[in-house]
Amino acid sequence: MNDPAIEAMRDTLIEAACAVRANAYVPYSHYAVGAAILMDDGRIFTGVNIENASYGGTVCAERTAVFKAVSEGARQIRAIAVCTANGVAPCGLCRQVLAEFASPEQDPPVWMVDEAGMIRETTLFALLPDSFGPQHLHQD
Ligand code: THU
Repeated sequence: MNDPAIEAMRDTLIEAACAVRANAYVPYSHYAVGAAILMDDGRIFTGVNIENASYGGTVCAERTAVFKAVSEGARQIRAIAVCTANGVAPCGLCRQVLAEFASPEQDPPVWMVDEAGMIRETTLFALLPDSFGPQHLHQD
């Protein structure tokens, strides 16, 4: 947090999250979420929530963005923006999935905006204290 190069991307990331929110597929909840993540290679990946008639098949916006990033070869998240009707934080499952691709040392800022553009800010690992992560497993 407080890396000037990352902070400089804040408005760009928030705008991307709010723009992509229009693509949310939310026929059941009508609760549209847009997310944008900045990766350490400079690329930005966006995502929306994609619901399913079999409700458990729903994927949140944040995980859509992470899965797009990882499948395109990016690995390290440096910042996260989430745009909703009421400026909420990512759900617990998304926090865990985001944390897999972030480092506690470079704890990514999480910017949350509502429809009025009100910004709340925290960090990913502040949202996921005492987290279980890759560092706890044997790695080849
Ligand atoms: N949702 C997200 O996309 N991200 C979150 O962090 C919380 C919930 C979605 C899932 C579902 O499509 C809708 O919001 C209502 O739960």
